[in-house]
Amino acid sequence: MLRNLRLHVEKDYSSMSQQAAEIFAAAVRANAITAAKTANPRPAYGFATGSTPVGMYKELILMHKSGNVNLSNITAFNLDEYYPISPTDPQSYRVFMRENLFDAVGTPPENTYIPDGQAKDPIAECAAYDEKISKAGGIYMQILGIGNNGHIGFNEPGASLMATTWHTPLAQATIDANARNFASVNDVPRHALTMGMHSIMMAKQILLLASGEGKAEILHKALCGPITTNVPASLLQLHNDVIIVADQAAARLL
Ligand code: PGA
Repeated sequence: MLRNLRLHVEKDYSSMSQQAAEIFAAAVRANAITAAKTANPRPAYGFATGSTPVGMYKELILMHKSGNVNLSNITAFNLDEYYPISPTDPQSYRVFMRENLFDAVGTPPENTYIPDGQAKDPIAECAAYDEKISKAGGIYMQILGIGNNGHIGFNEPGASLMATTWHTPLAQATIDANARNFASVNDVPRHALTMGMHSIMMAKQILLLASGEGKAEILHKALCGPITTNVPASLLQLHNDVIIVADQAAARLL
């Protein structure tokens, strides 16, 4: 594996979550000191949804409550949001983030950005989103999961990838995988607004999480295989500072 990809293998989901939370909290503590001297005293972090980071968010809440890290003082940008979806829909990523992290650590809503799943003009919404990231001084650390099909955010495998935040159709594999959270597969929105590959790759650091046997093959392809738009996560090989925290099951082929 390339040297810019730093791999931590943990015994199971729980220790993966703990290790990822510690790495993230260390970055928040260090960057808070650096950022205090800049025009953006609330450093921006990129957050992900899905089942993988839930344990890490639980750990971060505990760390925040015990005074080990302060998450009320950051700016948060989420990778993506379904489209269309209401911000109060229980399946929206806006609600997911409030329930799994932001409400518990008191990150003020005005500092938590998620693409607007109800935007009348999704193209303008996407352009405005990248602008907001840039105005916030860029993302210090971007948390990522990896889809079974190799997507990051909702950048799905295909002949080409988009650079900036965009309005994308979801791959059937993603609709099927995410149906578990909806009443039926027909209720899964068919589109999303997602940060593009450049938006993700501009983060100073990437923290990629993977858990479970089901991710072993795609994680190996992404980190050790050829760089290809058919595995969007393989582009992470081109980023100069990626930390991967995987449990033994997901890291089995690395
Ligand atoms: P998961 O999703 O964490 O629910 O496996 C990962 C992803 O689709 O990015």
